[in-house]
Amino acid sequence: MSESADRASIHRRLEAVGQGHLLKYYDLLPPGEKQTLLSQLAGLDIEGLPALVRDYVQNKPAFVLPADVQPADYYPFNADSAARKWDKARFRKAGEDLLRAGKVAAFVVAGGQGSRLGYEGPKGCYPAGAVTERPLFEMFADQLLAVKRKYGRAAPWYIMTSPLNHSATVAFFEQHAYFGLDPKDVKFFPQGVMPSLDIKTGKVLLAAKGEIATNPDGHGGAIKAICVSGALADMKQRGVEHLSYFQVDNPTVKVVDPVFIGLHAAAPDSSAQMSSKMTPKAYPEEKVGIFCKINGKTEVVEYSDLPMDLQRQTLPDGSLRFIAGSIAIHIISVAFIEKLGTDPAFSLPYHRAEKKVPCIDIETGEPINPTTNNGVKLERFVFDALGMCEGGNGKKGSIVYETDRVEEFAPIKNAEGVDSPQTSRELQTERAARWLERAGVKVARGADGKPQGVLEIRATTALEAEDLMGQKLPTEIAAGTSMVL
Ligand code: UD1
Repeated sequence: MSESADRASIHRRLEAVGQGHLLKYYDLLPPGEKQTLLSQLAGLDIEGLPALVRDYVQNKPAFVLPADVQPADYYPFNADSAARKWDKARFRKAGEDLLRAGKVAAFVVAGGQGSRLGYEGPKGCYPAGAVTERPLFEMFADQLLAVKRKYGRAAPWYIMTSPLNHSATVAFFEQHAYFGLDPKDVKFFPQGVMPSLDIKTGKVLLAAKGEIATNPDGHGGAIKAICVSGALADMKQRGVEHLSYFQVDNPTVKVVDPVFIGLHAAAPDSSAQMSSKMTPKAYPEEKVGIFCKINGKTEVVEYSDLPMDLQRQTLPDGSLRFIAGSIAIHIISVAFIEKLGTDPAFSLPYHRAEKKVPCIDIETGEPINPTTNNGVKLERFVFDALGMCEGGNGKKGSIVYETDRVEEFAPIKNAEGVDSPQTSRELQTERAARWLERAGVKVARGADGKPQGVLEIRATTALEAEDLMGQKLPTEIAAGTSMVL
């Protein structure tokens, strides 16, 4: 079809849904930009826009808490706990066997915009090592180098970017020679985007005269993106059966954890479709999703949706009843992704967020840098797929495994305060100190119990505390030491 026919047909469709303004500046654009705008518009679900505007701009979806909400069951970190005894060694072996057989891949979602941190560029490039300031991506790559050495088989690494940071992410890996990984084991693919909507009118915002304003479609977009990008075919061709899913902001995450993989794949109550890690909430109001059992199925309820009286409820021993906080670490089976992502009826719900979206004024064409929220962004969340796992009600379902916060949750989200580079550095140091102390090293701690220095253990030195045993280590770490092992 000719460009003018394309334009006429898209214009008709846009007019029909009240979005004709998107072509207002079309005639003024240079030819290349005309084509780019038309392709961007052709990729939009134009006829789906009125429903989005009605449900998320003119109205706000109301969360209705189901009547039957219980705390989710979980495998406690301490496998000898009276609450639930389980055989950690057995599941570790099951996970290690899968790693040795090449059936596990690492999967990081790195398509987010990282606006809270105020860092320009892909968040994975952020300097995160407590002492070395190595970028997050390098910290994960180090783990994968160590995994290959330990299990004799490389775990491929899938990296979900977004169209907004894809080329910058790939260029970063190329500049750093893939941090020593074999490039054929590192696969990038971009997630989809959603148009950003004007908070008052529901009209799609224009980022420039020839470009609509979009935002990545949320980490829930991963399921479709894996299927349509060719990543699924690549996984199947390699024989990968399970994806170890993690977020780009957490430098201490275990990129692959044999115990968790083993539980997911082999626990009697696991459907082996999608599993989750939790840490006990630090305090009732902590802003993390909470694992609940709804009508017998494991699901995450957002903290803002769980009434405060339930969040504060305690058990007779004083602990929180709804204690299982989501740290956004999952194992997802490739078969589950294929089942969902290739089903035309599959979709995850949208979640609405009000944001400041730079755009142009439709009337004047002048750029606007808003100081208050002017846009609605729609995102899908991957954990909404948990309720789609088969089973529940006592049959096989989705399992949750407790982990220790210091061991694997030191996220960098904000420039200052909670979940900041400073708190991450302290947690990385505390973890290193614990590992060293377990290996018999004396670490200077202050009156507050905190290590008096900054410590970092590279994954290539030790993936877990046990890997330090038998290594040549200092006998003592004095106050004020800044040390990398
Ligand atoms: C998230 C979880 C929260 C959990 C916390 C733990 C959500 C909605 N909330 O919060 O329950 O307790 O982490 O750290 O997930 N991403 C994409 N594409 C997108 C959007 C995000 O790949 O379109 C990636 C980001 O790059 C990042 C991760 O998803 O790796 C988390 O995104 P973010 O929006 O920062 O979630 P949080 O608010 O930190």
